[in-house]
Amino acid sequence: MEKKECPIGVFDSGMGGISVLKELYEVMPNENYIYFGDSVNAPYGTRPLEEVRHLTIASVKKLLDQGAKGIVVACNTATAAAVRHLRQMYPDVPLVGIEPALKPAALQPGHPAVLVMATPMTIQGEKFKRLKKQYETEADITGLPCPGLMEFVESGNTHGTDLQEFLSRLLEPYLGKTDAIVLGCTHYSFLRRQIRQLAGAGVRIFDGGNGTAREMCRRLTEAGLRSEHQGKGDITFLNSLPDEEEIELSRTLFQKYEPVFRIY
Ligand code: DGL
Repeated sequence: MEKKECPIGVFDSGMGGISVLKELYEVMPNENYIYFGDSVNAPYGTRPLEEVRHLTIASVKKLLDQGAKGIVVACNTATAAAVRHLRQMYPDVPLVGIEPALKPAALQPGHPAVLVMATPMTIQGEKFKRLKKQYETEADITGLPCPGLMEFVESGNTHGTDLQEFLSRLLEPYLGKTDAIVLGCTHYSFLRRQIRQLAGAGVRIFDGGNGTAREMCRRLTEAGLRSEHQGKGDITFLNSLPDEEEIELSRTLFQKYEPVFRIY
């Protein structure tokens, strides 16, 4: 296969990165994609850093072995743990990670109160601490670790009453005191509507999916690796859980997900 027609590799600890895959497909529909979800080892966000780094590097290697021409680490937790190492290991591969979209949220006028929902690892990590410090003078920033939340999406539950109750309990202390919410875990993007309903229409919700997709497009163009194929590309779903059910769920979540620009 000519390098330009090789797939873009997209990786997450499980199903969450499918929200980023959909944004990539929106921006570059003619590209081929190979998506790998490491559901066997999910969640990553409650594991030790070294372990997440090791798992991420192994998964990215798998995608490169399958011929990926570039990599999107579609997981905030894995990005924080491993993207620097991956860049050193593969300096010639266009490689883009994702981080909580704090900048556009914090730069809204009027010193907004910003709530960042993410995994415990992301919130405790150095990368987030640095990011928070950078925008501290612009906004009141609160990091909210959400252990247990990704599991709903991971099992395909994006609307259940148990999920509603979980979210209400989680967000209750912040309701009425928050101007913007940042979805700092790619799984949570599937819960945007439920979170919006709880938070109210006046609260703006941000995630990094679309920005990450556009950054990957820019990097591939710069490297002369954009496909010239006319028409839609192919998407291959792989998962470390060998069941057909996981692949089926991946396809369903992909179809269901509404890219940000279509909602706003
Ligand atoms: N989807 C991942 C993220 O963006 C995390 C989920 C997990 O804990 O594995 O952070």
